Amino acid sequence: MTETILNERRDSINIIRMNRPEKKNALTQDMYSAMVKAFEDGEADDTIRVHVLLGGPGAFSAGNDIADFLKVATGDEGGLSRPVHQVLHALAGLKKPLITGVDGIAVGIGTTFNLHADLTFATPRTNFHTPFVDLALVPEAGSSLLVPNLVGHQKAFALLAAGIPIPAEDAERAGLIWKVVAEDALETEVFAAAEALAKKPPEALRMARELLKKTARPDVISRIEEEIHLFGERMKSSEAMAAFQAFMTRKK
Ligand code: COA
Repeated sequence: MTETILNERRDSINIIRMNRPEKKNALTQDMYSAMVKAFEDGEADDTIRVHVLLGGPGAFSAGNDIADFLKVATGDEGGLSRPVHQVLHALAGLKKPLITGVDGIAVGIGTTFNLHADLTFATPRTNFHTPFVDLALVPEAGSSLLVPNLVGHQKAFALLAAGIPIPAEDAERAGLIWKVVAEDALETEVFAAAEALAKKPPEALRMARELLKKTARPDVISRIEEEIHLFGERMKSSEAMAAFQAFMTRKK
């Protein structure tokens, strides 16, 4: 079986790549668990200075696997699963910088992952899209706190409640991401930024980053919990089940 999360080290860079191209990198429980392990291993390894999270050409991630959603929603546990909790906490608690490289599809958590990055590079064909309400769900990953703080209420509402996709150029202008770069330059730019960060004095970098994150972090973590609770309830609602079923049985 192909590994759906690839984790490799390049010098002091911890590279985590979503690798399920046939499903546009829709994320399953196993993928979340593998990501948690990859982040935790990178955090624990003193030789690692920076994390890099990537998707593939044309698809960063189509978000949560909806078939998986259905399985979890109808299972004994109900609500959002433990691996999703763990990955959100791992991201919000990272002590080392995270750089993301996004090309193309970035739906749901494929958008909200980037809110925990320190630098996001995205290509012009990228659209950030969070159709939570269309799926009868609510925003997750602390996005309901982070996005309005970054871009104000109306843009946050457009993205997170109205489900209007935001093209990469607009996301850059609004301050949601660091930089738009050409498709063929994406990974070169990501790794150049990662290498530059890896050369900086690690203690000073850690302290500077911690100062930037410190004020918001406790609120982000408690918001993640609040969202998880509501999201879990919504997943079990009849309107969410209907939306998941509609996606699974849609005609292309
Ligand atoms: N969950 C499960 N399967 C998904 C998926 C998801 N989130 N996103 C894509 N896939 C699957 C498709 O069902 C399709 O599978 P198939 O080839 O076995 O039929 C395959 O991935 C390719 O997707 P497809 O829809 O053909 O690609 P596309 O380029 O036309 O459209 C998307 C891509 C992302 C716009 C579209 O697939 C989509 O809207 N996905 C759902 C996104 C979503 O709502 N995510 C949850 C957010 S909370």
